[in-house]
Amino acid sequence: MKILKTKQEIKLLVNELKNSGKTIGFVPTMGALHKGHISLVEQAKENTDFVVVSIFVNPTQFNDKKDLEKYPRQTENDIEKLNAAKADALFLPDEKEMYPEKDNRQFDFGNLDKVMEGRFRPGHFNGVAQIVSKLFETVNPDKAFFGLKDFQQYVIIKQLVKKFMPNYNIEIIACPIVREANGLAMSSRNELLTKEQRENASFIAETLTKYQNYTSKYNIEDFKNKLIEEINSNPFLEVEYFDIVDDTELQQIKSWDEENKKVGCIAVFCGKVRLIDNIYYSTTL
Ligand code: PAJ
Repeated sequence: MKILKTKQEIKLLVNELKNSGKTIGFVPTMGALHKGHISLVEQAKENTDFVVVSIFVNPTQFNDKKDLEKYPRQTENDIEKLNAAKADALFLPDEKEMYPEKDNRQFDFGNLDKVMEGRFRPGHFNGVAQIVSKLFETVNPDKAFFGLKDFQQYVIIKQLVKKFMPNYNIEIIACPIVREANGLAMSSRNELLTKEQRENASFIAETLTKYQNYTSKYNIEDFKNKLIEEINSNPFLEVEYFDIVDDTELQQIKSWDEENKKVGCIAVFCGKVRLIDNIYYSTTL
């Protein structure tokens, strides 16, 4: 695997490959790689000729400085995993390379970045849009792969390309959530949990799944309240929000009878660690 640290090196490499007719797949990450990230690399390998992965812990998307400081960094380990997964190139820039000067761009995503994560992490998606647009401009991939673990991020990145990058032709591919054996959605932040917390955190996915059977039992309001109450009954967990939204505009669902595809999105504190997860609810039981 080639390891490149400058935008210029990546641009040169991608140009050469594209000129020889190869398609480029791209997997942006913040490192501390786990099987969720690797599944994205695998899907990129299946769908494109040359796979670039990036690792960059992007400061502008952290609204909480402590969260940025304690974010796990394990580059040597990550390189081993990417070699094993046969990624073709790793883009590993430093902060000066990505932000030679302050990025003052403000992206307007309408409703999409006002709700859920956007509501509780103000500025987060603007930071994500800043870095992902820079990475897309640099790598200029044919296809970029994003996990549904960060469902709202996936919806916003699709809008970023459509609305703000009209001259680029980048297809955004959604990849399924990879989970631990106990159901907990894999996340770099799981590294920060104690063994006991990690066991209890599985109750989030367990409850989201259990409630799949309750869509005909409760109306939306009761469903949300009962689910939150149940997760909060675990002493290790504290729900920040649980919303059920449609999967394109992220508008609140008011009734199960609506035609849209419905996604239940949750953020839960397990001690000081903030975990997110989501699930599609089918109402045609
Ligand atoms: P990061 O949290 O490292 O995630 C990188 C990619 O891996 C994202 O597309 C995320 O959705 C996906 N991913 C994480 N956990 C997953 C899981 N359990 N199953 C499937 N996919 C999973 O998301 C970011 O980084 C950053 O915001 C980034 C897009 C790189 C911009 O800085």
